[in-house]
Amino acid sequence: MLFLPQPVQLLGLLAATFLSLPQTALAAGHEHALPAYHYGAAIPVECMNRSSESGEHIEDSMTHEIQWIPFPVCNETGKPLEFYYGIEEEKNCTIAMVDDPFFHLLEFYIHMDAPLSCRLPARPEPHVQVVGDEPPRREYIPLVFALAGKLQLSHMHISTHMNVLLHSTPKHHIHKHDSGVLDSATAYSTSPLAHGEGSSTTRLVIGDPLPLSFSIRWFPTPALPKTEGKVEWSGMGGHFYASTIFYSLVSFCAGVIVTAAYFFGSVLPKRLRGRRNLGGATPLGYGLKSVGNGWGYTKKAID
Ligand SMILES: *[C@@H]1O[C@H](CO)[C@@H](O)[C@H](O)[C@H]1NC(C)=O
Ligand SMILES: *[C@@H]1O[C@H](CO)[C@@H](O)[C@H](O)[C@H]1NC(C)=O
Ligand SMILES: *[C@@H]1O[C@H](CO)[C@@H](O)[C@H](O)[C@H]1NC(C)=O
Repeated sequence: MLFLPQPVQLLGLLAATFLSLPQTALAAGHEHALPAYHYGAAIPVECMNRSSESGEHIEDSMTHEIQWIPFPVCNETGKPLEFYYGIEEEKNCTIAMVDDPFFHLLEFYIHMDAPLSCRLPARPEPHVQVVGDEPPRREYIPLVFALAGKLQLSHMHISTHMNVLLHSTPKHHIHKHDSGVLDSATAYSTSPLAHGEGSSTTRLVIGDPLPLSFSIRWFPTPALPKTEGKVEWSGMGGHFYASTIFYSLVSFCAGVIVTAAYFFGSVLPKRLRGRRNLGGATPLGYGLKSVGNGWGYTKKAID
């Protein structure tokens, strides 16, 4: 009798723990329940439907929502343009015939009266659905194709080669052929001022094919690659690992510590001994230029 309250209390405690746990676990797990792209998964490109008369976007008359339509069909695949998660490639997409309305839209894009505004789903379509549950609204990231060119009276020149940069949201660990979620993207015509040999500028009249080509590159985080050998970077399909950053940080810190120890232990006392009067030139400002080899940072060939 006397011992009863204890197990009861214990049970109560356990029950309370289990009752409160699912809520927090569910809240935290919701994000993880949403699907992520597998390496190589197709990502469709949708663009705003625009009026070829005014360049304005077209709204659904009932809901007033913007109308999104697939990117024009590429003759190479017979399908609208799509990217593949994590796949870096050179891709051709020839639009077989530029009709009159599309030609006028291209004029708006080139003239920058209206952008070629497109979007990509941040995540793939969910497979499983909880019965009776409203499916979560799909989220998209914007992708504007900054198409460059020059308008003439009867025709136009279009810089048809475009770089496409796609960023994934950051993850704790980056693996080769990783899965993930889209963070951001951009696309732009390259070398719009180049002419002649090697330039990919196309003269276009109504009825012509439009031979677009894309250089597609992926970044495993929203950050851009560092320069000057600080972090080796070769995109998601390649040899970039989070350990690279860790190793770089460790060697950076070690370098700073060694440099500082050398400076304060050896150089500074020598300078102080050698120069009674420091004058305006502080030893720190003066010394840092000549001490050590920069940051103790050595460029490493990784993988
Ligand atoms: C885009 O909008 C125009 C004008 O409303 C319409 O005629 C056309 O069918 C739309 N395009 C697509 C692919 O739905
Ligand atoms: C794209 O087209 C160009 C020109 O027609 C061709 O030289 C190149 O091999 C093609 N690239 C791919 C990946 O198909
Ligand atoms: C489109 O593809 C078809 C069949 O593959 C080919 O006959 C045609 O020449 C292509 N058109 C263009 C503009 O590349």
